[in-house]
Amino acid sequence: MNKFKLQTLSGMHDILPDDQKYYQRVQKAIDSVVKYYGFEKIETPILEMAEVFYKGTGVTTDVVGKEMYSFKTKGGDIVALRPEFTPSIARSYIENGMHNLPQPVKLYAVGPCFRYERPQAGRYRQFEQLDLEVLGDSNPSIDGQIIQMSYDILKDLGFKNASIQVNSIGDSECRPYFKKILTSYLKSKKSSLCSDCQRRLKENPLRVLDCKEEKCQVVKAGAPQIVDHLCEACHAHFKQVLEFLDELELPYELNPYLVRGLDYYTKTVFEIIDKDENGISLGSLFGGGRYDGLVKILGGRDTPACGVACGIDRIVSIIRSKDVKTAKVEEPEIFMAQLGQMAKRKSLKLFEEFRKAKIPMAESFSKDSLRAQLRSANKMGAKWVLIFGQKEALENFVTVRDMKTGTQQEIALDKVVEEMKKKLAKK
Ligand code: HAM
Repeated sequence: MNKFKLQTLSGMHDILPDDQKYYQRVQKAIDSVVKYYGFEKIETPILEMAEVFYKGTGVTTDVVGKEMYSFKTKGGDIVALRPEFTPSIARSYIENGMHNLPQPVKLYAVGPCFRYERPQAGRYRQFEQLDLEVLGDSNPSIDGQIIQMSYDILKDLGFKNASIQVNSIGDSECRPYFKKILTSYLKSKKSSLCSDCQRRLKENPLRVLDCKEEKCQVVKAGAPQIVDHLCEACHAHFKQVLEFLDELELPYELNPYLVRGLDYYTKTVFEIIDKDENGISLGSLFGGGRYDGLVKILGGRDTPACGVACGIDRIVSIIRSKDVKTAKVEEPEIFMAQLGQMAKRKSLKLFEEFRKAKIPMAESFSKDSLRAQLRSANKMGAKWVLIFGQKEALENFVTVRDMKTGTQQEIALDKVVEEMKKKLAKK
C-alpha cells in the first residue's frame, strides 16, 4: 500500500492535454468578442498586497473573510493570492496613471484566481477567470455593452438557456436609507432567519436577500425591494440600462434579490445563469456590475467603472458535456519513418528542414520498427510517409510512399522539401 500519495490539492485540478481543446474553444469565443469591442489585454500579478482585496472586495465579504488565501511573507508583508481581478485592475489603473489615457479604458484579463471554497461541481479553489473592465465611463450604455459581450460569448459557445438576471443596488446616496428599512424589517423576523443570515444582519443585511437557505425564503419574499427606494440618479441609470437591454433584445429578468457578494458594487448588478430544459438554475456563469466608488476607495480619483467576470472551468465543464464543436486538431499529412542509427541521425536534420519550411510533419523517432511507424502513420491518416532507411541515408535520397495507392517514389534528399511542397499544393 502506498501510504504517501502525492496528488492535487482539494479543489485544484490539472488541465490535461485532452482538456486543452475546450479551453482553446472558449478562448476563441473570448478573443473574437474582446477584439471586436476594442478591449486590451492586461496581466496583473497573481500575488498582491492583501490590502488591495481587504479594501477593494471588502473584509466582511465571504470572498475575503472566509475564502482568501493570504499569508505573511519572509519580509513580513501580508499578501494574498488574488480571489478575483477587479481590485487588482483598479490598483493597476491608479498605479499606472491610466486616468491620463483617453477614457474609457477597456481592459480584459484571463488567468487563475483562488478561493478557499467548499469544492463541488464547477466550483474550484483554483479556477480560471475571464475578466472584462471598463474604467472611466458612467454611461449606462457601458453596462448594456458588458452584458451584451457576456451573452455573445455564451451564444458563440452554444448556450441556449442562458438567462440574464439584473438588479440595481443603488449607491451611497440611497443605499444607506434602504439598508435601514431592510434591517428593521429583518430584525422583526430575526428568529426565522438561518444562523448565517443572523450574522449577516449585523455586517451586511443586503446579503440576506441572496441567501439560498430554505428557511430564509419566506422572510425574503416579504422584504422591501431596493428598486423601490433608488434615488433619482440611480433610478434613471437603471431605467436606461434596461432600455439598452430591450433595444439589444437580450432576454433578461429583473431579480430583486440579486445583490452580489462583493462590497464595491453600485447601481447595476447582474449575473448570467445557465438553466436546464426545465428552467432550473445550473449556477452562475458570469457575474458583474458597476463599481463607481472602487478606484477612489483604493486611493485614485473618482472613476466610474463597470465590469464582469466569468468562470472558464465552469463553462468548459458544460460545453464538454454538451459536446460543443471544438476546432479539429489538424494532423500533419506527412509522416517521417526512419530505420537504423545513421538514418535516425540524419532524419532529425531533415525534420528540422521541414519545420523551417513551415510544413507540418509527424514522426516517431523513438520507434525502431518500420511496421510500428507505418501503423502510427495510418492511424493519424497521413497521406505520405517519408521512409528514410540505411540505403537512403547512405545514398542521400528518401523513399516517399503514397499511403492511399501504396506506390513509392525516390526523391533526392536536397529536393524532398520542395517536392513535398508541390505535392501538398496539388491535392
Ligand atoms: P464573482 O461573481 O465572484 O465576480 O465571480 C465571477 C464568476 O467567476 C462566477 O460567475 C463564476 O462563474 C466564477 N467563479 C467564482 N468562483 C468560482 C469558483 N470557486 N470556481 C469556479 N468558478 C468560479 C467577480 O469575481 C467580480 N470580480 C466580477 C466583476 C468584474 N465585477 C465587476 N467587474
